[in-house]
Amino acid sequence: MSCRVRFGMSADTMAAMNGIRTRVLSTIAGQLGNPHGTLGKGFAFILNRGNKRAIAGAIDAAGIAANATVADIGFGGGAGLSILLERVGTNGTVHGFEISPDMLTRAKSKFAEEIRTGRMQLAPGSMTDLPLADDALDAAITVNTVYFVPDLAAAFAELVRVVRPGGSLVVGIGDPDAMAKMPFTAYGFTLRPVAEVIAALEGAGCTVDHEQLANPPIPHHLLVARPA
Ligand SMILES: C[S@@+](CC[C@H](N)C(=O)[O-])C[C@H]1O[C@@H](n2cnc3c(N)ncnc32)[C@H](O)[C@@H]1O
Repeated sequence: MSCRVRFGMSADTMAAMNGIRTRVLSTIAGQLGNPHGTLGKGFAFILNRGNKRAIAGAIDAAGIAANATVADIGFGGGAGLSILLERVGTNGTVHGFEISPDMLTRAKSKFAEEIRTGRMQLAPGSMTDLPLADDALDAAITVNTVYFVPDLAAAFAELVRVVRPGGSLVVGIGDPDAMAKMPFTAYGFTLRPVAEVIAALEGAGCTVDHEQLANPPIPHHLLVARPA
């Protein structure tokens, strides 16, 4: 007689269902860390919808002035790029950097006119190695990205290199306890305590203010760092 477990399912069926669950969760985590392919288009839409309030909050916290030179690092679906364009106005410059070639292609198509007129510059780039001169930016945001960066000290040293002294660098992260309850985060996310992220920013030479956004379903922390 076959071995029957809960709900009359065999051990083989349970193992197959666990395998499917693992594949689905790793696919979600992989897409969030580097949206790509046909699924990536859907994830770009989901990111823009789900994270718009956190991104807008980060841009508010950065205190961006008209005519500024700013960047969104790891812009994903590009919601932050649109808001930054509004904030800097026609004489400002918005940079966007991504490791995902598909998100870059998508944003280059969406913002073709702004790129043509020089208001926006999009390029491949990781937050550990950005194609920008020292002190090139007045402000930068990076939201929901540091989970995918193994070496936070290297990333923050690079971000501080490109943001001018006294400028603003806003790092937005989902609350780690809330994130840990989302099952896909077990598949490749590094969820760090907020205090650890703040300490890494301070270690890179910033003063840091901590703001919180009640941002259902995931509260966010905005770490507003200013390079000395
Ligand atoms: C979860 S999505 C967040 C996108 C967007 N910032 C938002 O909040 O909706 C993470 C994005 O960061 C990008 N990314 C991952 N590692 C990165 C890195 N080292 N440097 C720059 N971008 C990175 C991914 O390609 C992806 O588009």
